[in-house]
Amino acid sequence: MPDIDDATPAPATPDSPDGASPRRGIKSFVVRAGRMGSGQVKALAELGPKFVLPFQAGQRLDTAAVFGREAPVVFEIGFGMGDATAKIAETLADHDFIGCEVHEPGVGALLKHIEEKQLGNIRIFQHDAVEVLEQMIAPASLAGVHIYFPDPWHKKRHNKRRLIQPEFVAKLVQHIRPGGYLHCATDWEPYAQQMLEVLGAEPLLENTAAGYAEKPSYRPLTKFENRGLKLGHGVWDLVFRRRPLA
Ligand SMILES: C[S@@+](CC[C@H](N)C(=O)[O-])C[C@H]1O[C@@H](n2cnc3c(N)ncnc32)[C@H](O)[C@@H]1O
Repeated sequence: MPDIDDATPAPATPDSPDGASPRRGIKSFVVRAGRMGSGQVKALAELGPKFVLPFQAGQRLDTAAVFGREAPVVFEIGFGMGDATAKIAETLADHDFIGCEVHEPGVGALLKHIEEKQLGNIRIFQHDAVEVLEQMIAPASLAGVHIYFPDPWHKKRHNKRRLIQPEFVAKLVQHIRPGGYLHCATDWEPYAQQMLEVLGAEPLLENTAAGYAEKPSYRPLTKFENRGLKLGHGVWDLVFRRRPLA
């Protein structure tokens, strides 16, 4: 998980001088080597084959086959250590959850929660969520999308790495079914303002509130939210709905 206060560009690779994919341009994350706990290593080895799905470019994910049932599917970008994801999946047992996270210790941590809570309704991609969405998620298929405390990329020169940008949101909404929702939360006020502006300007979305939303009861406190609260930050939730077909 990137250190949000000291964000540095991803390491250079031969075909992407700044570590960004030549196709997408700029990544919303930096993959850092994180220390894995022994429980996380064990969970990855034992549960990874069942719960971590391989990224396959151009291969549409058959969610009914993956979960063994037809249920509303919620897609989460950047679950961090997965505490909130696991709690939500436990509460909303009649929904299925696809969580994307590039930080390996976070993947191990969520796998541990899956085992502890015996959750059958979560699958994980340890891959860039933007690519998973574009390459593997069917259009108009998602009941909901959760983006909780995305990296705020505080410094002006890093703002372009923020996930919530008009171009990405325009692509993202195409994967939400009409009537489905997009729920974002942040503890960084300038990013909250950007979210409100960008989501409000997307023609396929309508705000469920007059501005920021009340925190929905299904969203528990997240690890990053807790960190923000300790620093005296506020918290802003935004819940938008994809407009029903006319
Ligand atoms: C600030 S943390 C918040 C984690 C968690 N949602 C929480 O509230 O505690 C943001 C997380 O998003 C992940 N992330 C950022 N961009 C991503 C992407 N495009 N695909 C997958 N994960 C991403 C980062 O690795 C990081 O763990």
